[in-house]
Amino acid sequence: LKAKMILDKDFTISAIDPRIYGSFIEHLGRAVYGGIYEPGHPLADEKGYRKDVADLIRQLNVPIIRYPGGNFVSGYNWEDGVGPIAERPRRLELAWKTVEPNHVGTNEFAEWAKSVNTEVMMAVNLGTRGMDDARNLVEYCNHPGGTYWSDLRVSHGYKEPHKIKTWCLGNEMDGPWQIGHKTAEEYGRIAEETAKVMKWVDPSIELVSCGSSNTSMPTFPQWEATTLEYTYDHVDFVSLHRYYGNYNNDTQSYLAYSLDMDHFIRTVISVCDYIKAKKRSKKTINLSFDEWNVWFHSKEADKKIDPWTIAPPQLEDIYNFEDALLVGCMLITLLKHADRVRMACLAQLVNVIAPIMTENGGRSWKQTIFYPYLHASVYGRGIALHPVVHSPKYDSKEFTDVPYLETTAVYRPEDEEVTIFAVNRSLDSSLQLETDIRSFAGYRVIEHLVLENDNLKAVNTIEHEAVKPHSNGNAHAEDGTLLANLSKASWNVIRLK
Ligand code: AHR
Repeated sequence: LKAKMILDKDFTISAIDPRIYGSFIEHLGRAVYGGIYEPGHPLADEKGYRKDVADLIRQLNVPIIRYPGGNFVSGYNWEDGVGPIAERPRRLELAWKTVEPNHVGTNEFAEWAKSVNTEVMMAVNLGTRGMDDARNLVEYCNHPGGTYWSDLRVSHGYKEPHKIKTWCLGNEMDGPWQIGHKTAEEYGRIAEETAKVMKWVDPSIELVSCGSSNTSMPTFPQWEATTLEYTYDHVDFVSLHRYYGNYNNDTQSYLAYSLDMDHFIRTVISVCDYIKAKKRSKKTINLSFDEWNVWFHSKEADKKIDPWTIAPPQLEDIYNFEDALLVGCMLITLLKHADRVRMACLAQLVNVIAPIMTENGGRSWKQTIFYPYLHASVYGRGIALHPVVHSPKYDSKEFTDVPYLETTAVYRPEDEEVTIFAVNRSLDSSLQLETDIRSFAGYRVIEHLVLENDNLKAVNTIEHEAVKPHSNGNAHAEDGTLLANLSKASWNVIRLK
């Protein structure tokens, strides 16, 4: 197979908002308890946070982490999670049928987030609660002092406000599984009024209006249109969520699911711009793809978990090599929309559908999907370029005209560095890529990282890392042309300088 591409520093999409490399920690399964927090673990710090997990998160350079849910937030009383830990209530947690001990709450999470160099994307409960609790939480977190809620924070030992900038107005409120599920009109009204008071408390915050839980929802995309009619003037983002799974063991279709993601993004942009036109507004709403990943391996196992325990092993998908390829394609898709997708969260970060896994009391390890996420987060910052790509295509059971080559590139003028991200979707043939790098005269390949494996189903375990990148890719540049051989079924990162 042969493909051609043209890269030029003048063909740009936009500056990339680093927040597209965000992630998510929900009070669910072993994400918090046994994940980021495990007092008594040999590697726990004095506050109980696992240093090995924190180190891996720092490696990923995660710019923002959504918290505390997810479905969890729609039944959460944030007041349960502040103040002396010994006095905090244990609650029945209805979203995931567990017991929530509330040992970690808003202050602990904000403090931990700082220690791993990340911001918090805080979600408020619009399921069982509403505008009063939401405005109180903003006051508790962000107001400097001298008022009831801000002084309560100070009395809890946090003199400085957390200054949380990004807030989600509820979670997946279109879903019947959601605690306090709402119709689009009901959600639109409560979100609009909640947004107003939250911004009155702190005008510097940014708000995310709930979009559809996925594209198969019967209310998609009317949900976006109706809710944005109410929230448009008060919010900055609309959310998108999407998980994929290789349920039919049809890898050719599976690797093309990023085309579905692309279509989803385009549809939501259209709806936002339709409401903009209807309102004669000058404001543009951006997209927060704040839940995306592969999620299907653990679904059967989860049905067997007993209810009402603390931190059971829920949603512990073990990812294989082909999952990492799809995650790579999804990262490329986000980059292709860098002008409108300004935030995104790989859902989630630790143990729960996660790149990082831990053993209670034991070691931590990296799943296959850790690597494309790491590479994109570390090398994918700067300006998203718009390459012209000519790739051969294939048809699968679910898609037609799937390009074998999924690719994009990022330019960092300050370091004079260009990074190409590329997936070869062919399962049996390598792909010769010839790139015209006309405006990057004199650039040389400094690294060609490759993630490849003969076994699409290979997984990593705590004992053995079967899927990890090597840097023996053969890309080389000469006379304004970059030549690279992309192995069958591979994720490639080609760095030029
Ligand atoms: O990330 C797991 C769950 O997926 C979240 O709690 C929910 O928002 C979504 O359905």
